[in-house]
Amino acid sequence: MVKVKIPATTANMGPGFDTLGMALNLYNEIEITEDANVVNSEDNLVYKSMVKAFKACEYKYGNYKIEFTKCDVPMSRGLGSSATCIVGGIMAANAIMGNKLTEEAIINLATEMEGHPDNVVPAIVGGMAVSIYDGEKVVYSKVNVPDNLRFVVIIPDFEVSTSAARKVLPKDYSRNDCVFNVSRAAMLVTALNNGEIDKIRTAFQDKIHEPYRKTLIKNIDEVFLKAKELGSVGEFISGSGSTLIAVIHKDNEKFIIGMKKAFNELQIGWAIKELKTDLVGAKILIES
Ligand code: HSE
Repeated sequence: MVKVKIPATTANMGPGFDTLGMALNLYNEIEITEDANVVNSEDNLVYKSMVKAFKACEYKYGNYKIEFTKCDVPMSRGLGSSATCIVGGIMAANAIMGNKLTEEAIINLATEMEGHPDNVVPAIVGGMAVSIYDGEKVVYSKVNVPDNLRFVVIIPDFEVSTSAARKVLPKDYSRNDCVFNVSRAAMLVTALNNGEIDKIRTAFQDKIHEPYRKTLIKNIDEVFLKAKELGSVGEFISGSGSTLIAVIHKDNEKFIIGMKKAFNELQIGWAIKELKTDLVGAKILIES
């Protein structure tokens, strides 16, 4: 039996479309046991990811009982639930095979399955990462996130599918929009690395995806405005949405209460949670 724990992740983080991502301290846990009586379905993303890893190592695999013993990462909300399945499946398969895959190989297989590296890389290595797929492999670099920041996840009561949210994006962008995003993404990384919290609001600005995806998230403007009034240092859409994230200073004790009051006034039953950066990434908890 193998048990694996995988963190939620937020991707894009404003200007870093398909590039920036960070692991959060919210987790799924998956227990996998070899069981000849089980009929596995190719529709199960965990199983599909296990098979991908087994085939990469030409390993003779069997049938597996796959159970989520903890399922705290909400589905289709932009918090990397599919990355937890992919990373969980590949890492569990790797443990079953006796760790034949390197971290680099795990990252490349997971990115191939997910289609972009920004969720799977931090889900595997923890922390915040800048990830690039260079056409052959993934190259990543870690960003230091000041430990006095908290990430408040605001989870709407509706889903947004990543494929639908990718379809609303334009195919091409103007040079001005590209410069706008390159400057903000670069500034976000340096501002976080240097602890320049006052620059984060400017650095979270984006012209690649948020202006288009805002249309899929009702009440986003009101919620972002309220977050700013309550002292948030910046806000962004988490991944492809629907979750929104407000970044606050750890001493901002009135933020959550104020936001809950605003949800009541707006008559929206959204969930809210204060999270921290997960620095560890996915972990095998039990291997027997
Ligand atoms: N970078 C991806 C997107 C993340 O925005 O479509 C999806 O989780």
